[in-house]
Amino acid sequence: MGPTAALSIVSLLAGFAAARNCANLTIPVSISARQGLFKDVPFEGNLDATTFSQNFNNIGQNYSQVLLQGYQTLTGNYKIAAQFCVPEAGSKTSTIQLLSHGIGFDKTYWDVPFNNYNYSYTDVALKKGYATLAIDRFGIGNSSHDDPINVVQAQAEVEVLNTITTMLRNKKVPGITGSYTKVIHVGHSFGSIQSYWLSALYPNNTDGLVLTGFSVNPAFLPATIAAWNLHIARLNQPLRFGNTSNGRGIDISAPYRSGKVVGAVQGFLNKVGVKLSSQDIWNEIATTEVANLIEGYNHSVTSYNYPSGYLAWSDFTSQQYTFLLPGYYDLSLGLYAESTKQPVTAGELLTIGSSPSSSPFTGPVLVVTGQQDAAFCGGDCYANTKGAASIPAAAAAAFPKTSKFEAYIQPNTAHGINFHYNATGAYNVIQSWLGVHGLAA
Ligand SMILES: *[C@@H]1O[C@H](CO)[C@@H](O)[C@H](O)[C@H]1NC(C)=O
Ligand SMILES: *[C@@H]1O[C@H](CO)[C@@H](O)[C@H](O)[C@H]1NC(C)=O
Ligand SMILES: *[C@@H]1O[C@H](CO)[C@@H](O)[C@H](O)[C@H]1NC(C)=O
Ligand SMILES: *[C@@H]1O[C@H](CO)[C@@H](O)[C@H](O)[C@H]1NC(C)=O
Ligand SMILES: *[C@@H]1O[C@H](CO)[C@@H](O)[C@H](O)[C@H]1NC(C)=O
Ligand SMILES: *[C@@H]1O[C@H](CO)[C@@H](O)[C@H](O)[C@H]1NC(C)=O
Ligand SMILES: *[C@@H]1O[C@H](CO)[C@@H](O)[C@H](O)[C@H]1NC(C)=O
Ligand SMILES: *[C@@H]1O[C@H](CO)[C@@H](O)[C@H](O)[C@H]1NC(C)=O
Repeated sequence: MGPTAALSIVSLLAGFAAARNCANLTIPVSISARQGLFKDVPFEGNLDATTFSQNFNNIGQNYSQVLLQGYQTLTGNYKIAAQFCVPEAGSKTSTIQLLSHGIGFDKTYWDVPFNNYNYSYTDVALKKGYATLAIDRFGIGNSSHDDPINVVQAQAEVEVLNTITTMLRNKKVPGITGSYTKVIHVGHSFGSIQSYWLSALYPNNTDGLVLTGFSVNPAFLPATIAAWNLHIARLNQPLRFGNTSNGRGIDISAPYRSGKVVGAVQGFLNKVGVKLSSQDIWNEIATTEVANLIEGYNHSVTSYNYPSGYLAWSDFTSQQYTFLLPGYYDLSLGLYAESTKQPVTAGELLTIGSSPSSSPFTGPVLVVTGQQDAAFCGGDCYANTKGAASIPAAAAAAFPKTSKFEAYIQPNTAHGINFHYNATGAYNVIQSWLGVHGLAA
């Protein structure tokens, strides 16, 4: 730790909420990314999203290849929203964990306020003395949005991640005056793919990789896309993903949460002679797009104003299928995640499989995947392992030069590690592993 980092902590504390030592930053980045130029795909209504999924999953074609017209160099200046946190005043570190969320979430994945933050990855890392920077990936959340087919693609996001890493090392992030000499890249899912991708292109710009919700087996992606039942994001949550012109005014989010909507709907149905139990009505609202329609009926909630071509899984049932292990997560947290979910762009899906096939990174790599992960393990990381100890363990082949590779399988956990009762169990494994592999705070 250099004296500069200590100074930065002192200067930042003034602006922090007392207990958590975190600040929201907006980071301007300039990037240049060589990436795909795809044919235009219509995204007018939900059926267009379904057509996209059908084409994407068709085993007779590589849809990315079908749409690819050539390559382009994207250059641009963008704004990246981030949450920066430092440990208790007085603790010192020059090691920072740079956190990249996966599809369907934003930077808050790492610091879920639910249940007084007891699912927070950030809290666990701070307690071990690390600083953390969680970004909204380029194109998502409060970071700049752009053309969802030809701008917001994986390669551009990797360039953003690499640029921010260099800025951290060189004290160039506005709002962070300290210098971080060690940057550990921690990802979840697509964020892990991008962290891996960074290590393949810029192996000298990372000091360690923690890839959660990850394997290098692409066999389960089509089932995941199918289960998402993708819809146009701005139609799925018009009041949150759409813009203010969609109208507001009647605030029904509070009564919905308190259960009053269930009673009102039941009263209405009774009047027209339909007898449904309140449990059935709750099901019909909470597990379908009815709940998504209601989300955002609140003047103070951000309107993200996502253009068509930003897609979202349809409802809570899709979310459970792809992220959650029944019986091992709190239903209220699942509903919370549904109410704060984020979209995916068509361009991201078309480029998710285009990472380099191996990384020359020489430092330590830890993969942590839930045993019942559907997207990266097909529901069981110990099945069909083809000789490796687990499906994630086979990722070792992508790191031929690493000093240390380990795959850890977290029990009773599906893809959304963060939302399971034992999330902090996995998070403690990660911090301990970093500590014994030369990356203590
Ligand atoms: C950062 O933004 C989040 C989300 O809007 C908010 O809850 C939090 O209070 C902000 N933190 C600070 C320190 O301003
Ligand atoms: C599909 O095509 C894209 C674009 O050419 C390519 O990057 C990707 O590797 C291909 N995927 C497979 C599985 O061949
Ligand atoms: C996104 O930005 C808006 C407007 O500044 C703010 O109200 C909102 O809390 C932010 N959300 C997150 C998750 O940072
Ligand atoms: C990384 O650093 C090593 C040693 O300084 C150097 O030989 C290598 O070319 C660098 N690799 C890249 C991709 O910059
Ligand atoms: C809001 O959405 C409508 C419909 O997509 C669009 O025509 C309009 O330009 C948007 N308004 C803003 C301020 O982006
Ligand atoms: C509206 O959203 C704000 C910010 O998320 C929240 O504090 C408030 O409780 C919400 N109001 C209702 C009535 O849900
Ligand atoms: C959070 O608290 C709840 C209720 O006390 C508990 O059931 C759950 O296991 C805790 N989760 C984590 C990740 O610590
Ligand atoms: C929670 O996770 C830790 C770390 O993987 C593991 O050692 C422990 O057995 C898990 N606990 C349960 C109840 O699954």
